[in-house]
Amino acid sequence: MKGIILAGGTGSRLHPVTLAVCKQLLPVYDKPMVYYPLSVLMLAGIRDILLISTPRDLPVFQELLGDGGQWGIRLTYAIQPKPEGLPQAFTIGADHIGDDRVAMILGDNIFFGEGMGSMLDHVISQSSGASAFCTRVTDPQRYGVVAFGPDGKVRDLQEKPKNPLSDWALTGLYVVGSDVVERVARLRPSLRGELEMVDLLKDYLADAQLDVLKMGRGYAWFDAGTHDSLLEASEFVRTVESRQGLKVACLEEIAFSKKLIDLDQFTVLAQRAGDTAYGRYLRGLITEWRADHD
Ligand code: DAU
Repeated sequence: MKGIILAGGTGSRLHPVTLAVCKQLLPVYDKPMVYYPLSVLMLAGIRDILLISTPRDLPVFQELLGDGGQWGIRLTYAIQPKPEGLPQAFTIGADHIGDDRVAMILGDNIFFGEGMGSMLDHVISQSSGASAFCTRVTDPQRYGVVAFGPDGKVRDLQEKPKNPLSDWALTGLYVVGSDVVERVARLRPSLRGELEMVDLLKDYLADAQLDVLKMGRGYAWFDAGTHDSLLEASEFVRTVESRQGLKVACLEEIAFSKKLIDLDQFTVLAQRAGDTAYGRYLRGLITEWRADHD
């Protein structure tokens, strides 16, 4: 089971914020944006992950995330020279994918919901063909849109339609098999000069190989693609964290709870986090764990 995080692009919709800083490294409340999609893959039990970004930004991701060993995972890196479309991630990641199924997630997508990881794990291990995930939104024009027939099956897909066929937006999380590499090779760029994810999904749909799962009311999804959605995502994370006293997308906590690292390794990370709210949170988890296990 492999993972890919696509974290390139120009971030032009967030200029001037992203003129010199990569979008997926901006803070979403108390951690860098890329932590959130990485947490989704880790929660699904994916331990071998390729991160793709621009020649300019890749070294910063490497500095931030390293080889993943600190969290018990393997992180490797590849460059996308130009943002020529989301499906290109599968071409760049062909060797990484090999013969396995792969979950690809966009570096600016933030998911929150009980059981998110196990749902994804289930989809990866059960399905053949392609799976995508959609959620209801009030502004479908901004996204890929899925229309379902009366039988509940996918009828059509549209990318940023002026007249959306439904309120169901495609999120930036996709699960495909290794045949994806050949399918992407057959795609042609759209009028805006990019390979489109919707065209790739339509290729699967034509072969009755596409499943789009509706994420219900229990899930929240943000793509931090505009100034407002970036702030909304931060506010959401802050609200959840301050009400529950639990962090969203805390990679150290996930690694420990999924037994990817042991207590000694977790303690080292907690100490390294220093005298910060984040560090205090990690040390609090250790105290709690000891109280439960001693
Ligand atoms: O977030 C979900 C949406 O993502 C889907 O509903 C759409 O169907 C899908 O096309 C995509 O729409 P966006 O308008 O968000 O696509 P955008 O071109 O902005 O790219 C999404 C992210 O991927 C963004 O953070 C930049 C990055 N990217 C984009 C392209 C085209 C890359 O890293 N490389 C690329 O070549």
